[in-house]
Amino acid sequence: QNPSAFVTTIIQWQKQHGRHHLPWQKTGDAYRIWLSEIMLQQTQVSTVIDYYHRFLVRFPTLQALAQADQADVMPYWAGLGYYARARNLHKCAQAVQATHGGRFPEDPELIAALPGIGRSTAGAIAAFAYGVRTPIMDGNVKRVFTRYFGVTGYPGNSVVEKTLWALAHDVLDAAPATVDIAAYTQGLMDLGSGPCARRNPACEQCPLSHSCHARKHGLQNQLPTPKPR
Ligand code: ADE
Repeated sequence: QNPSAFVTTIIQWQKQHGRHHLPWQKTGDAYRIWLSEIMLQQTQVSTVIDYYHRFLVRFPTLQALAQADQADVMPYWAGLGYYARARNLHKCAQAVQATHGGRFPEDPELIAALPGIGRSTAGAIAAFAYGVRTPIMDGNVKRVFTRYFGVTGYPGNSVVEKTLWALAHDVLDAAPATVDIAAYTQGLMDLGSGPCARRNPACEQCPLSHSCHARKHGLQNQLPTPKPR
């Protein structure tokens, strides 16, 4: 499990086999990238695409969203569920307007301090919009990391989660000086939602399988460790 090879292998695989035509990959606009990441938090890509386009026709800029009434925003979320996301979205737009002059900050810690944005989403926004070399660690990525590096313990446990974040930082620190962070970040997401699926992972399609801890020891179905009960 060589951390540098982990990063470069994922980038190479992403460029060849990953997703390249998602609507939010066509923009460098942090506002659009942020919107997509919030929509994708609890909703699958195929559902998000239509909502994403409709939302941006009505609210093409952060300013337009910040100036709207919250009641005008909700119809554009109707059907996506988890409506706290839409309320936080509106609050976040107003906070970026008021606190950051209408431009999303680049520092993941500042992004994560905004309403409705967790640490992983903040990392994704910083990486995709600004090329900041910073990790993500959502559910899919936890699966890739626990399997590849053989991290045991339920990842929802705060100690295990801390270990995973530290590992994600170490891996990036050990990677080559120039890393296509957007390709790496997208590649982790694409591996986690593709070959490294929760059930019946397609290890034969995974570029990491030859050095994956779980694959080597036949632990694909034991990792990540399930929630204790
Ligand atoms: N899930 C969360 N963020 C995503 C992204 N940028 N692309 C595809 N799926 C995602």
